[in-house]
Amino acid sequence: MADFTLRINGGEKKVSVPPDTPLLWVLRDTLQLTGTKFGCGAGLCGACTVHLEGSATRSCSTPISQVKGKNITTIEGLSANGLHALQQAWIAEEVPQCGYCQTGQIMTAAALLAKTPHPSDDEITRAMNGNLCRCGTYERIRRAIHRAAAGANGTGVNGRGGAR
Ligand code: FES
Ligand code: FES
Repeated sequence: MADFTLRINGGEKKVSVPPDTPLLWVLRDTLQLTGTKFGCGAGLCGACTVHLEGSATRSCSTPISQVKGKNITTIEGLSANGLHALQQAWIAEEVPQCGYCQTGQIMTAAALLAKTPHPSDDEITRAMNGNLCRCGTYERIRRAIHRAAAGANGTGVNGRGGAR
């Protein structure tokens, strides 16, 4: 066991776990942040995606010892009230089917829009390529990303608050 102080969703949490514990299990089992999902456990599906210093990161393949001092954002911390531009667009486009993959999809899309506020179709394809959806919601995801990028008032994701 080792003690870690995690910078997560704008606050700090102390945990005591073996250093090789995947971040995903610390989030889900230790901190009860169960919005992040377990899919393959091998870095192949994207269901477990969180942000590490703003970059989309597979939490199933990231030992807790590697996140010391880094800012972690999970779906619970993406926006204060669930109204991130992408979350609104996901609702408007009725993206989710079973919903299991959608946390990872939204977190990957949020990292994309933070760096590329108005992505092309190719940029969306490249960014989202590693996030699998057994329900085949890919085209709805693409529409929702474009919708969030455009913004209801035309200012795009960074003009609507909640993005971080
Ligand atoms: S559960 Fe992490 S990539 Fe599949
Ligand atoms: S919505 Fe079911 S796996 Fe993506």
